[in-house]
Amino acid sequence: MSAAIAALRKRVGMSRPIGVVHVDLPENDFAALFRLLEHDPHSYLSADPAAYAFAIGRSFYGPVLPAGSVSLGWSSWSVQWLSRVPMPVPDHVQAAFSRDTQVRALYAEQARSDWRRFLGERSRELCRGGRLVILSMAADEERGFGYDPLMAGMHSSLSLMREEGVISADELQNMTIPTFGRTRSEFAEPFRQGAELYECLRLEQLEIFLAEDRIWLEYERSQDAEDYARKWAAFSRASVFPTLALSLRTRQGDGRVERFMDRLEAEMASRLATSPQRMNMPLALLELRRT
Ligand SMILES: C[S@@+](CC[C@H](N)C(=O)[O-])C[C@H]1O[C@@H](n2cnc3c(N)ncnc32)[C@H](O)[C@@H]1O
Repeated sequence: MSAAIAALRKRVGMSRPIGVVHVDLPENDFAALFRLLEHDPHSYLSADPAAYAFAIGRSFYGPVLPAGSVSLGWSSWSVQWLSRVPMPVPDHVQAAFSRDTQVRALYAEQARSDWRRFLGERSRELCRGGRLVILSMAADEERGFGYDPLMAGMHSSLSLMREEGVISADELQNMTIPTFGRTRSEFAEPFRQGAELYECLRLEQLEIFLAEDRIWLEYERSQDAEDYARKWAAFSRASVFPTLALSLRTRQGDGRVERFMDRLEAEMASRLATSPQRMNMPLALLELRRT
């Protein structure tokens, strides 16, 4: 975010006020965001006296800002989350790894309509000439969704936990991570019909690339398999365990969510430590301009 503000400052000078609006779901912990902005010495609020922070707790699959009010949009690591779970994935927690063709088709269709909805809303909010930069999980034409060892470790750990009765068959059945890695052609698809423009948006850049796996690079240096496994398991806990835990039947104060997460994290770490591998992480970088 600080880099985006620095780029804007070059164009508008130091004195013009800049409003930064953070958008996330209503359930998001916005207090943590505001604490970081207030206390981190590297935050844009610390560095720039004419920058102002706002937050909106609404889904970006609907309208979040007034029409024509945004000059620069930035969305990172978020549009891979679908607006809803199209259906539970019977043989995995991630549709990309399912052998069920109906599941994969339904998720692809949801991703297609969500992407159009997201673009339509952002197009309305951007001012003329405004730009939107998006960084998202993606799918590589050859390697697919990526994260294979991580997702295999997660699924086999959950299957063991079901066999041991830590979670029920029903709970596992409903555990689904509704993320979708779009391919280059799926990202580009809305822009093909009616030439290059979709909803007054021009796709100026679309790049699919493999992100650097910093945990693997650190492992190559240290050869510490347990550290590698611990870091990937902790990443999984922070990014997707809360979504999996939504399927647990819990009573207030019974500590079941915490126990579930601790056990899953430990199981995944012990599996990942047996054969560390570089994680394939396809990412998409897009730049769009409102014409
Ligand atoms: C991996 S985090 C990325 C956070 C931040 N953008 C970053 O780059 O560090 C994904 C975020 O997307 C949010 N998210 C998922 N679906 C969303 C939606 N429909 N509308 C708004 N935010 C959403 C999640 O709540 C989560 O905070």
